[in-house]
Amino acid sequence: MLEVDGLTKVFGGLRAVDDCSFEVAENSVTALIGPNGSGKTTLFNMVTGYLRPDAGRVRFQRRDVTGLDSGRLYRAGLSRTFQQARVFPQLTVVENLVAAGGYSWRQLLTTARVARADRERAGRLLEEFRLEPVADLAAAELSYGQRKLLEFAAVLMSDPALVLLDEPTAGVNPVMIETMERHIRERHAAGTTFLVVEHDMPFVMRLCDPVIVLDQGHRIVTGTPAEVQAHPDVLDAYLGS
Ligand SMILES: Nc1ncnc2c1ncn2[C@@H]1O[C@H](COP(=O)(O)OP(=O)(O)O)[C@@H](O)[C@H]1O
Ligand SMILES: [Mg+2]
Repeated sequence: MLEVDGLTKVFGGLRAVDDCSFEVAENSVTALIGPNGSGKTTLFNMVTGYLRPDAGRVRFQRRDVTGLDSGRLYRAGLSRTFQQARVFPQLTVVENLVAAGGYSWRQLLTTARVARADRERAGRLLEEFRLEPVADLAAAELSYGQRKLLEFAAVLMSDPALVLLDEPTAGVNPVMIETMERHIRERHAAGTTFLVVEHDMPFVMRLCDPVIVLDQGHRIVTGTPAEVQAHPDVLDAYLGS
């Protein structure tokens, strides 16, 4: 589904991501873990077209997509969420979903010009994510966890083949963590591939296989959750020795 080959990003003198290579198999839920500052978000930004790599290639479904902008990748079926959920705070929940379908402000204001298919898709997502009760609230009025759920629902508007989630459970309560996990499992069962950055290790161990470990911009280990947990290099990375 995804092949990352030698990706590198340098900020000033800092090699935030350094010659990093890995693959995400079709229909896996692959985890990307590593200590704070190990380059996870920078890697996501390069894969999803928010940052241009200094070196290396990204292939998505066997096509070289290195340097394509995020909008084109989204339309091609590769989408992502952000560590700090990004939604349009003044738009309502349903408008956020429709907006994710790629409409202009003018089209949103005259909903007659939003294709019936997109309105229906937004309706189904509201139902799937149990967001109907808040459909007409401004996104700013939602709890942080609900905003993350909305952001997740919004990236599904394009019916993506691959979804990258950057810390889906960070800052959300335990009930919402379970909800998030259930939605990932359901979508995975329906054929979506996931690459997940997450600090909640029990969550990663329950949900993800394989697990890729980054340290200082390098991939140091790839394995099953049990292999990674027992690996001495992983302990070293987290303990900073
Ligand atoms: N835009 C930027 N400019 C300069 N340094 C950055 C920038 N983005 C990230 N970094 C640095 O790159 C390293 C990796 O950051 P990041 O990818 O956010 O790590 P992670 O998501 O694993 O915590 C960190 O040392 C961070 O401070
Ligand atoms: Mg990060």
